[in-house]
Amino acid sequence: MKKSLGVLLLAVLAVSFMACTGGGGGGASGTPTIGVAIYKFDDTFMSYTRNAIQSNAQGKATLEVVDSQNAQPTQNDQVDAFLSKKLSAIAINPVDRTAASTIIDKSKAANVPVVFFNREPLPEDMSKWDKVYYVGAKAEESGSMQGEIAYDYIQATPGADKNGDGKIQYLMLKGEPGHQDAELRTQFSIKYLTDKGIQVELLAEDTAMWDRPQAVTKMDAWIARFGDSIEMVFCNNDDMALGVIESLRNAGYFQGGKYLPVLGVDATTPALQALAEGTLLGTVLNDADGQGKATFDVAFALATGADPASSADVTNGKYVWVPYQKVTRDNYTQFQK
Ligand code: GAL
Ligand code: CA
Repeated sequence: MKKSLGVLLLAVLAVSFMACTGGGGGGASGTPTIGVAIYKFDDTFMSYTRNAIQSNAQGKATLEVVDSQNAQPTQNDQVDAFLSKKLSAIAINPVDRTAASTIIDKSKAANVPVVFFNREPLPEDMSKWDKVYYVGAKAEESGSMQGEIAYDYIQATPGADKNGDGKIQYLMLKGEPGHQDAELRTQFSIKYLTDKGIQVELLAEDTAMWDRPQAVTKMDAWIARFGDSIEMVFCNNDDMALGVIESLRNAGYFQGGKYLPVLGVDATTPALQALAEGTLLGTVLNDADGQGKATFDVAFALATGADPASSADVTNGKYVWVPYQKVTRDNYTQFQK
């Protein structure tokens, strides 16, 4: 009897201590703690976004940033840990965007607001709770911009249709299947051309999972198979475009007048370098700084009970859209850091 009273007393003390320190959600200096999960750290564009989230948090919030290592089960465990610590808000870059549904259910049950970024949950999941937000960019916009750069090149280059058959023979290297950016960039880049009356012929399409080494392997095989009949290469991101360029370089391109137009998306530092060197035809700025800032600002507002609309441009009550920008040889210096 005496012993159990003692245990009870300890428990009461522990609870009141937690209350004084603001529970698990409070950071060391009274600032909120926000959990951030990135689908994998080893992704060029996501590392830029992560840095932007971190620099915006300076002096305002404590962050717990974790690497989900491209495994949804790992990320689910990380989310469970964030929720059991009762963090003030969480920002999630899902491994698999269909997993957002479960994450929303759990966050709602724990009353911890959640901001998704870069990988857009399905609309029916987004509408499950009012404390769910998404920060990203309109994938179709990046596709159309890529198409526009390709169109301008075709118009300005008499030899773009190398075999003169009235069609542009192209290759399409996709990011991760099912990712909105992979599907919509693939579709809208070509749609831009065909809407403008350009005839195209797809030689081959495959995924290299956003990854440069995988792109080198795929392109090596395509060069062996299609050789000189390739007239243009579309890539859903810059890392893959750089892999394609590496493969083309090994096959003798970009020297002695041998050239193929290659297009990417993201405007990473090495991609801007490739633009400067004249190997990459064009890219589209995927604004990591803007997306990282908006992700932090929305999470911070939710963590502190403020209205996210006061610090970010919120559409339909839960979306923040960060615009893309075309990047070519004419303007790339503007984007160099
Ligand atoms: C895209 C980006 C890719 C890759 C992907 C990860 O927006 O263009 O390079 O980072 O996100 O989800
Ligand atoms: Ca042709």
